[in-house]
Amino acid sequence: MAPVLEVAGLVKHYGTHRALDGVSLQIEAGEIFALLGPNGAGKTTLIGAACGLVRKTSGTIKIFGLDLDQDPISPRYRIGLVPQEINFDPFFTVRESLRIQQGYFGQNPDDARIDELLAALSLTSKAEAQTRQLSGGMKRRLLIAKALVHRPKLVFLDEPTAGVDVELRRDLWTYVRKLKAEGTTVVLTTHYLEEAEELADRVGIIDQGQLLLLEEKHALMKRLGERTLTVRFTSRVAALPPGVEGVLAADQLSFSFTERTGTQTSAEVLSVLFAAKLPVADVSMQPAKLEDVLLRVLKGGPAS
Ligand SMILES: Nc1ncnc2c1ncn2[C@@H]1O[C@H](COP(=O)(O)OP(=O)(O)OP(=O)(O)O)[C@@H](O)[C@H]1O
Ligand SMILES: [Mg+2]
Repeated sequence: MAPVLEVAGLVKHYGTHRALDGVSLQIEAGEIFALLGPNGAGKTTLIGAACGLVRKTSGTIKIFGLDLDQDPISPRYRIGLVPQEINFDPFFTVRESLRIQQGYFGQNPDDARIDELLAALSLTSKAEAQTRQLSGGMKRRLLIAKALVHRPKLVFLDEPTAGVDVELRRDLWTYVRKLKAEGTTVVLTTHYLEEAEELADRVGIIDQGQLLLLEEKHALMKRLGERTLTVRFTSRVAALPPGVEGVLAADQLSFSFTERTGTQTSAEVLSVLFAAKLPVADVSMQPAKLEDVLLRVLKGGPAS
């Protein structure tokens, strides 16, 4: 099966500025792909080019196997976009703006679909409110509903949870998993790294218009993630047993060890501590964080 989205050598110049500088990637059906990178990296430009909102300078974009240069229109009917910027007509009600969106995508009015989305996004009580009467977070929920109302097979979520409360963020994560289970492909950008950590199958890191890395999330976390083991003791430990990596705290009451590719494992370290009969009171493990991995890659760490 052709990839759902295939980008090759994509370049976008704004004047002399290279917003996209030769980006190539493929996204397969049914995956959740997180595109991460700092402000101005080119994420929204890439999404805009794929959705036909940004005119590319060069390169090719294929959606569902169709080259946008040959057929810019028909793939759009199967795409949903939650734009980063909030933009809708303030004088329609929530329900009206969803009906208009269905019509825009050539579909018959389907209130059952609208009600389902309103419920999933906790907007049911606002169905008849004008969109200008919504709070910022509610507007973003409506943007999400608008992007999904025509049941697209490829959905771009450009910072869908910016300014959204914790509860909706969790609801949205559940909903994104449901979309995936139904076979929908999702491309997500976010500055909430725990969101990408939670949802993504694969992660792409972009900076200054160039893709620095594209990798399966678990493999990436294993390769570049650093876990920290902390051990507390019931009484002072004068020295560590030989062969143990890690650092004894100045007060000699605790010990920490950073596990990364090529070091001992935390299990190996612990087994030496126990074998040496150190007075272990408590053991905790801090998992690797995608945020740290991203910062490391952006600083030109081992991946680049
Ligand atoms: N319409 C435009 N005209 C000129 N420059 C633009 C335009 N849109 C974007 N740019 C520039 O292109 C670069 C990439 O912008 P883009 O919006 O794609 O970044 P982003 O990765 O989405 O950032 P953010 O995380 O802040 O949303 C930036 O330097 C931006 O200033
Ligand atoms: Mg953006």
